[in-house]
Amino acid sequence: MRVQVAIVGGGPAGHLLGQLLYKAGIDAVVLEQRSQDYVLGRIRAGVLEQGTADLLDEVGVGARLHREGLVHGGVALGFGGAHHRIDLHKLTGKHVTVYGQTEVTKDLMEARAAAGLTTIYEAEHVTLHDFDTPQPKVRYTKNGATHEVLCDFIAGCDGYHGVSRASVPADALRTYEKVYPFGWLGVLSETPPVSEELIYANHERGFALCSMRSHTRSRYYVQCSLDDKVENWSDAAFWDELRRRLAPEVAETLVTGPSIEKSIAPLRSFVAEPMRFGRLFLAGDAAHIVPPTGAKGLNLAVSDVRYLSRAFAEFYGGSEAGINNYSDTCLRRVWKAVRFSWWFTSLMHKFPDDTGFGPKIQAAELDYLIHSEAGSTALAENYVGLPY
Ligand code: FAD
Ligand code: PHB
Repeated sequence: MRVQVAIVGGGPAGHLLGQLLYKAGIDAVVLEQRSQDYVLGRIRAGVLEQGTADLLDEVGVGARLHREGLVHGGVALGFGGAHHRIDLHKLTGKHVTVYGQTEVTKDLMEARAAAGLTTIYEAEHVTLHDFDTPQPKVRYTKNGATHEVLCDFIAGCDGYHGVSRASVPADALRTYEKVYPFGWLGVLSETPPVSEELIYANHERGFALCSMRSHTRSRYYVQCSLDDKVENWSDAAFWDELRRRLAPEVAETLVTGPSIEKSIAPLRSFVAEPMRFGRLFLAGDAAHIVPPTGAKGLNLAVSDVRYLSRAFAEFYGGSEAGINNYSDTCLRRVWKAVRFSWWFTSLMHKFPDDTGFGPKIQAAELDYLIHSEAGSTALAENYVGLPY
């Protein structure tokens, strides 16, 4: 097979890049190691920045998002037994949209299929070759047969554990990492959300987040320890723990029900630099991870592929400026999101070893945030999304 761009990974980054390139008249193949159902079964992000929703509109996959997505003009911070609303819309003129990552990916998969574009699911043993030359290749195995894709560029959109970053010689890569001493236990349930808007709660027992997927489907998280196991958390234990971490008048209205998904995610910040190696470009979680507190991971993946699709379009239009600047342009935005996610994580979580000074500083900062327009505005601006 010969294509202009071989996209490794069919998550949101890979699929959106495929759609952007299709709109730009650049042909690409998506190679995904899992099945379509497996990719759509991974429950992850829920909050889309306005810029993300706008881009999905631009590439023609925004119709269901506008029908079913929930537009939010505010979020609440819970602490000290009360909840305080941050008016995102008043402070920034922007809003966010609550619409699951799996729905975004599904819309993109459907658009790809409708346009007759190729995605190879269950592509095994994907390997990257010759990306330091103008003729890179990607090989994979499917049903026991080995195939080769010849291309101009490889886009590594294969997430944190993917093969793309791992194919780069170690001495060409610099990585930065911070691992947090806790995780998030998440539950999805067919119950109405406890609040119309998201609640991020700082509590002495640990962080909690009340989110949703629709008016009838809720997504909740509680901070848990790194050695916790999903099997050790019955639904009843989860609901009890969540209730304890919310203000009493909110906790009392919580509607509970059986979990339809339950999983634990560790929290980390990670950045690999640079994001380009010859003809290989990393995008999304393949290049960087943020803790989910700021709801930035998917949005960053979207901004990377937005820059990357423009860089490829410029290349085929005769200029290499876009591909030469790709890494620096992305990394400037990445580090801003890494900083915000680290800051918000540090503000809202219980750090196991810190029983005295840390919680006092958090309380003072939260008090400052809700009483100072400058403080609330800084939070709101970062949350709704930094300009491109
Ligand atoms: P991925 O989604 O990881 O996709 C990579 C794809 O590549 C996968 O389909 C994988 O199967 C495939 N792949 C891997 N290896 C190979 C290989 N060798 N060959 C071929 N294919 C391969 N972000 C937000 O913006 N907002 C939120 O509210 C938010 N909440 C989150 C909550 C949780 C609990 C978690 C865990 C994450 C959250 N995120 C959030 C982060 C967001 O989910 C990720 O940043 C996003 O999935 C990144 O997309 P991606 O396409 O880069 O990577
Ligand atoms: C989610 O709904 O899954 C979600 C929302 C906000 C976050 C993280 C996850 O910050």
